[in-house]
Amino acid sequence: MNKVVLAYSGGLDTSVAVAWLKERYDTEVVTLTIDLGGGSLREGVEARAISAGAARTYVVDAKERFVTGFVWPHLQANALYQGAYPLATALARPLIAQLLVEVARRERADAVAHGCTGKGNDQVRFDVAVHALDPGLEVIAPMRIGMGLTRDEEIDYAAARGIEIPITKQSPYSIDVNLWGRSIETGVLEDPWVAPPADVYAWTVDPSEAPQPVEIVVEFEGGIPVALNGERLPPVELVERLSALAGRHGVGRIDHVEDRLVGIKSREIYEAPAAVVLHTAHRSLEGLTLTKDTLRFDHLVANELAQLTYDGLWFSALHRDLRGYVASSQRVVSGEVRLRLDHGNAVVVGRRSPLSLYDKSLATYDQGDAFDHAAAVGFIGIFGLPLRVEAARHGAVGARHGSAWTWTEPLLEDLPVSVTDGALAAQAR
Ligand code: ARG
Repeated sequence: MNKVVLAYSGGLDTSVAVAWLKERYDTEVVTLTIDLGGGSLREGVEARAISAGAARTYVVDAKERFVTGFVWPHLQANALYQGAYPLATALARPLIAQLLVEVARRERADAVAHGCTGKGNDQVRFDVAVHALDPGLEVIAPMRIGMGLTRDEEIDYAAARGIEIPITKQSPYSIDVNLWGRSIETGVLEDPWVAPPADVYAWTVDPSEAPQPVEIVVEFEGGIPVALNGERLPPVELVERLSALAGRHGVGRIDHVEDRLVGIKSREIYEAPAAVVLHTAHRSLEGLTLTKDTLRFDHLVANELAQLTYDGLWFSALHRDLRGYVASSQRVVSGEVRLRLDHGNAVVVGRRSPLSLYDKSLATYDQGDAFDHAAAVGFIGIFGLPLRVEAARHGAVGARHGSAWTWTEPLLEDLPVSVTDGALAAQAR
């Protein structure tokens, strides 16, 4: 092996991994650090990588591509893993994998490496994505194949080699961050009965300590957020501003026992203020602009896409084709949603759209009703026809075959009933 490209966060694990890879494989190491926002880019990563022995370092700002190419399609699809997790970590993996492969090609490297352990989802996502893009590249995960040092050993290992150690104080949790969300696990969180301690959270205030509720307006075009409170914003800025605002109101905390791809149930805490607000707003706008059949079908697509992304199958044909469906079906999801940020909740209080399917003259119970009430009679006659036929033909079956099967259990006989006779009641007065 002559060259490895390592996905490098600048933390202690990956800093040690630079030196470990060099020594173990007698190879050159090139590091790749990707800025995905949310504070994911540590200060001084380049210098630290070089101090650890990297032959070359790449730092890529992928924030905008992350939002437009990865986050937006999943917001448009309403894709939440197990109905809860906005997929912040999972969405970043295919992007990182793709950049690893591209740098490996440019560098003529024969392997890529990442700092994942052997127990999580991320190793699967990286390995599968890299091999989908370039089956010839070897994927090395030092933490999975015996680098296995304790934190203190890593510190000693780094000190002995003159590797700059990141000065951040050790967190009791394992944390992954990008602008779409923070994922927090391990430590006391491993007991699913234990309430998350306050130090788990960095982006959201305790909802009970939130200020007075505020109302905000989010505008969408084709299912994509384009403006906040009437101000058009580029994608990254929109997410960042909304994240800060919603976080100040305690919105965006998610506590989820989740099923990992490797078969383990795992307790996860997420902080995703922008994701929670935007998913809530987007679904509400869909209710106004999509037909009931599309809404029903979209649930299937949302689930499937969330599962494929969670499982690291981004570069599969099914994933691509589902994204194609989503992009097409979202063309009419344009308009505005009003929400109240209220002590941890993002509550939709209004929505409007030039493409709304809502028709006041059909819905109203007041003046100006355009709905044809008389036509309801004929509609119900035909709509209910199969049920009437079935009841008539099969309802008798129970009677004919004794107690084997009854059409319904009697209700009136089984419930306490009070009966008042009108004539008797009048006499008594
Ligand atoms: N469970 C989430 C996922 O698989 C987040 C994992 C985040 N990693 C971490 N080191 N906290 O997508």
